[in-house]
Amino acid sequence: MIIFAFANQKGGVGKTTTAVTLGDGLARRGKRTLLVDLDPQGHLALSFGLEKSPGLYRLICLDETLPEVVQSVRPNLDLVAGDKLTEKVKRQITLSDFRETILIDLLRGSDYEVVLLDMAPSLDVLHINGLIAADWVVIPTRLDALAVDGVKEILTTMAEISRNGHRYRGYSILPTFFDRTTRETLLQFEEITRVFGASVWPPIPQDTRVRETAAYGKTLWDYSPESSSIQGFIEGRQHLGGYHQVLEKMIEVING
Ligand SMILES: Nc1ncnc2c1ncn2[C@@H]1O[C@H](COP(=O)(O)OP(=O)(O)O)[C@@H](O)[C@H]1O
Ligand SMILES: [Mg+2]
Repeated sequence: MIIFAFANQKGGVGKTTTAVTLGDGLARRGKRTLLVDLDPQGHLALSFGLEKSPGLYRLICLDETLPEVVQSVRPNLDLVAGDKLTEKVKRQITLSDFRETILIDLLRGSDYEVVLLDMAPSLDVLHINGLIAADWVVIPTRLDALAVDGVKEILTTMAEISRNGHRYRGYSILPTFFDRTTRETLLQFEEITRVFGASVWPPIPQDTRVRETAAYGKTLWDYSPESSSIQGFIEGRQHLGGYHQVLEKMIEVING
């Protein structure tokens, strides 16, 4: 089993969209995948046209088992949903003796090949649980002036966790909302590539289809597989970026 966390302390950078799109993409490629919503906003379920529900709360506060709380989304794809009761999970965890490893203890031993954690834009005990459970951290970021700084914040937290004995297999930075016509985007893309090199994954174009798709409770693979967010920018026969390329990167990581 390999666990990916989608993390950035900033909101609205594409964490949920990325977790949903890659989770669904992996399931379609035959990987047995679990998505876990760690955000009290509960958007993960909504993205699949399901209701928000207290899946995480039942798992952690009511001591139900993982098979009892998961919902099946499609073949190979299960979901632990969240809703505002996730706030109570944080309080419960804070009172526990094993407060930083509760999540990994519950996930370990399950028979999923891949687990994707959709993190909230916060730095609380649930966020730390997610970063401690993760083998690989994907950091979606917009390409604005503070992008590098936001990425460094997550990396600093990861470094602290590593000092306490946790081993990450790696991390990736995923530029989102990529707009080739904006100078700032291009400058920041250069900067982020200069600083983080090969850890930068192919960028996801800004694409109005993304919001539309989420509003319909569909995923991009279903609703608009030809859109630029999936296919990337097309130049001749070359594709640059897009979730299709990013999915390949992820499969490389999974296959080690
Ligand atoms: N590549 C994109 N192009 C255009 N809109 C996007 C893109 N990625 C995400 N969005 C939209 O931006 C909003 C925030 O994305 P979301 O994935 O919810 O971010 P986060 O989980 O980091 O808060 C959502 O309305 C989503 O549909
Ligand atoms: Mg989100």
